[in-house]
Amino acid sequence: MSNIIDGKAIAAEIRSEVEVSVSSLTRDTGIVPGLAVVLVGDNPASQVYVRNKQKSASDIGMNPMDIKFHQDVDIAIIEAKLDQLNEDESVHGILVQLPLPGHLDEKSIIRRINPMKDVDGLHPENVGLLLAGIPRFVPATPAGIQELLIRTNNNPSGQHVVVCGRSDIVGKPISALLLQKDKSANATVTICHTGTKDMGAITRQADILIAAVGIPELITSDMVSDGVVVIDVGINRKPDSSKKTGYKLVGDVEYIGVSEKASAITPVPGGVGPMTIAMLLYNTMKAAKLTSE
Ligand code: GUN
Repeated sequence: MSNIIDGKAIAAEIRSEVEVSVSSLTRDTGIVPGLAVVLVGDNPASQVYVRNKQKSASDIGMNPMDIKFHQDVDIAIIEAKLDQLNEDESVHGILVQLPLPGHLDEKSIIRRINPMKDVDGLHPENVGLLLAGIPRFVPATPAGIQELLIRTNNNPSGQHVVVCGRSDIVGKPISALLLQKDKSANATVTICHTGTKDMGAITRQADILIAAVGIPELITSDMVSDGVVVIDVGINRKPDSSKKTGYKLVGDVEYIGVSEKASAITPVPGGVGPMTIAMLLYNTMKAAKLTSE
């Protein structure tokens, strides 16, 4: 039976650390970190995430700004708003919640954000800085995964980390982050994706397995070895008539079977999810601090 990695508790610890930094920044400089969160459309999961991000920001003394657009909004309207936020000195961090409706070009919208305010770390300038080994803003979910590993004494250094998924938001940046020559990284990283022939043959070699594929319970117990550390990034809704909502949340890992073999595993919910918000706050604090230097 494995240890459950308590992302909720570790995220609370990080939020308190960031709160201390916010209060000293505000005391010393008068700056209140401002975080603009842009939501397009009415995707119910995105609405929940955005609300949580704003509440968490406000709880630690930041100034969250709520920007909402209709599902059918023209890209030019969003670009004009981003231009205005880029100029606004009270806004230190800008986040456009993804995914965007199909008619909007996500990459072009992200490129419109001032890279010094890109607290999601998705602008090509910040992606490049991470790959070059001089990160400015590390995307929040990968940063959260690294913190979870370190704070639970599962340092990835020298370990074989297998990442399932190659998204811009998780798979690519966590791979870049953990292969850096750094005492909190320094892993041997293998990336599996939809083009991988026999995923199980590779995931069974993992000391640390990071599942970020967006497919409910794809990783089953036959795909892992005894003692593996499992980080489950998936948050999927699975129909469940016994629940009031009609669904339950499951990860990309078949939790019950895999936890029998894993030495440590993140639950869903309560694993990676809260860490993403904590690290977003960390990045927003960093963005505000950069403007005061
Ligand atoms: N959608 C799911 N995760 C994220 C994230 O980390 N940032 C943004 N902007 N959108 C997301």
